[in-house]
Amino acid sequence: MEKIIDGKSISTALRKQLLEKTNLLKAERGITPGLAFIIAGDDPASRVYVKSKGKACDELGFYSVTEHLPADVSEGRLLSLIDEFNANDSIHGILVQLPLPSHIDQQKVIERIDYRKDVDGFHPVNAGRLMIGERCFVPCTPAGIIEMLRHAGVNTEGSNVCVLGRSNIVGKPVANLLMRKEYNATVTVCHSRTRDLKAVTSGADILIAAIGKPDFVKSDFIKDGCVIIDVGINRVADSDSKTGYRITGDVDYKDCFAKCGAITPVPGGVGPMTIAMLMKSTYDSAAGDVYER
Ligand SMILES: NC(=O)c1ccc[n+]([C@@H]2O[C@H](COP(=O)([O-])OP(=O)(O)OC[C@H]3O[C@@H](n4cnc5c(N)ncnc54)[C@H](OP(=O)(O)O)[C@@H]3O)[C@@H](O)[C@H]2O)c1
Repeated sequence: MEKIIDGKSISTALRKQLLEKTNLLKAERGITPGLAFIIAGDDPASRVYVKSKGKACDELGFYSVTEHLPADVSEGRLLSLIDEFNANDSIHGILVQLPLPSHIDQQKVIERIDYRKDVDGFHPVNAGRLMIGERCFVPCTPAGIIEMLRHAGVNTEGSNVCVLGRSNIVGKPVANLLMRKEYNATVTVCHSRTRDLKAVTSGADILIAAIGKPDFVKSDFIKDGCVIIDVGINRVADSDSKTGYRITGDVDYKDCFAKCGAITPVPGGVGPMTIAMLMKSTYDSAAGDVYER
């Protein structure tokens, strides 16, 4: 097994495959995958994310449309825009960039998206189907983690996996996925109230860190040979950098490197996989591979 699990190269290979499949889908069935982005407000990070997802669509020859709404947009306007995309046959995926302005009920918005176009996998129908082991859209970051483990040749069968973090977008879905019979892992989920965290993490064959705390996991958290998936994306001040900051994960990479069996870098690990899996879900939606069209 390679020590560094390189998300950049895995995602590049995945996108190449997707481009070939997309060209076939267009030529043989006349279907162009279509993805609609909705962004409300001026959060710079959200704008960067949506821009890079739009660029990924262009590279694959997907149709994409971005609706930028003002921060004071009404909930009703946002919901009716979702209704329009739900009814539009050229759109196979709808992505509402989170977080939304605080006056908008985020859950109501998620639930308005037709679950058959919910390529983010956040709708309760998809979350529920994931939990009971049925075909569904899987949230992109957890899907990317599984893909990385598969590429790296990591055997999850009977392995002890510790997931740090219980968010709806990473921790809970990745734990549910790994419990499925395809992966057969024994999963422990930790959160901010977990007692004696190190005692739990140090029993893990695979540690997935998604807590949003820079360099939190140190070498004394892990056992020898542990495979580490670092989901964290944290901005920390760095006077040596031109921008004045650098991006770091939830794992102290330097401290853990010698002891672990394999590790994902930040940046260049889970991040690029997330966008690639969004593209794959959109392709799958267009092709009718998740729900019949
Ligand atoms: N690479 C990617 O594509 C990608 C995608 C999504 C997120 N991320 C990054 O992943 C990180 C996590 O994001 P998220 O949205 O999943 O998390 P989140 O919603 O912020 O939740 C953080 C989770 O970590 C737990 N936690 C916080 N401090 C902890 C501690 N000291 N010990 C144990 N658990 C602790 C929290 O516990 P409680 O539930 O008890 O509060 C919570 O469950 C962030 O850095 C985010 O930027 C990256």
